[in-house]
Amino acid sequence: MKHRFQIKGCTALITGATAGLGAEFARQLAPVATRVILVGRRKERLEQIVASLGESFPNLRIDSFPADLTMCSERERLAAWIVREEIPLNLLINNAGLGDLGPFDTAEWSRLSPMLEVNITALTHLTHLMLPMLSAQRPSGILNVSSVAGFFPLPEMAVYAATKAYVTSFSEALRMELAHDGIHVTALCPGPVPTEFFEVASRAGETIRAMDRSHPALASSPNLVVREALKGLEASRPGVIPNSLLALLVRAVRLIPFPVQRMAIRFGAGPRKPRML
Ligand SMILES: NC(=O)c1ccc[n+]([C@@H]2O[C@H](COP(=O)([O-])OP(=O)(O)OC[C@H]3O[C@@H](n4cnc5c(N)ncnc54)[C@H](OP(=O)(O)O)[C@@H]3O)[C@@H](O)[C@H]2O)c1
Repeated sequence: MKHRFQIKGCTALITGATAGLGAEFARQLAPVATRVILVGRRKERLEQIVASLGESFPNLRIDSFPADLTMCSERERLAAWIVREEIPLNLLINNAGLGDLGPFDTAEWSRLSPMLEVNITALTHLTHLMLPMLSAQRPSGILNVSSVAGFFPLPEMAVYAATKAYVTSFSEALRMELAHDGIHVTALCPGPVPTEFFEVASRAGETIRAMDRSHPALASSPNLVVREALKGLEASRPGVIPNSLLALLVRAVRLIPFPVQRMAIRFGAGPRKPRML
């Protein structure tokens, strides 16, 4: 692809900017971007981030836009505001996301529904809404935060892993569609990262220590994940797995026939306890 997207001087919209990777994207973009728009539900958190970045980077224009992305009307309100303000958006970071750890049969719909809505519908809808603006500012970028969980079906994270399989597949196809339009699409596929994610994904009364259960060598810090993601986007890479050991493992496992993968996943998940439905 000819004209590479450059982070320097970008105007970026970051969803899920109140915590974890989203807040880290804001911190790492702040010294180089012209303007950042931070989206999340927690207004006070957004205000704190705006205040601290504003102090360190007085030339950076920062907007906070509190919004619940499960709601179609909020996504439309955000897009309408960007159009009305004539914001020259050239980077969309679809980062907001959440999980639910535990068996599917005992999951609460009130937790699965917002996950599907944020991880799949909001990401797709925002991409659709922002595409005309990104197109007007080419070369531009779309960074979709997926997960290594999207490469394999994962028992006890079945819905989350499936949402991330969607994100990776959607990003790959969109990248092909936009290849000649100067809009660069990258899917970020991290392994475990110490953020609020696991706390939010754990069910009431259950302490699922997913971070503790995964091998430390496969985990990455938010700082490294975001650094590698931004580098990957600038290099117009289709996907970024920001941990070299994990990237090697994923490549190796994907060469194994699926029936063998299935056995390994079942073995890894352990025996399923009988449940009263
Ligand atoms: N942490 C990991 O191990 C890991 C690994 C692979 C991929 N990921 C992916 O990385 C992305 C960021 O996760 P994280 O680890 O940074 O988790 P996090 O610390 O829990 O942050 C999640 C962000 O999503 C926002 N969000 C959730 N529901 C929302 C809604 N309805 N409307 C607007 N914003 C919403 C949250 O903001 P509010 O609560 O303020 O709304 C928060 O800013 C997610 O897509 C996740 O799936 C994480």
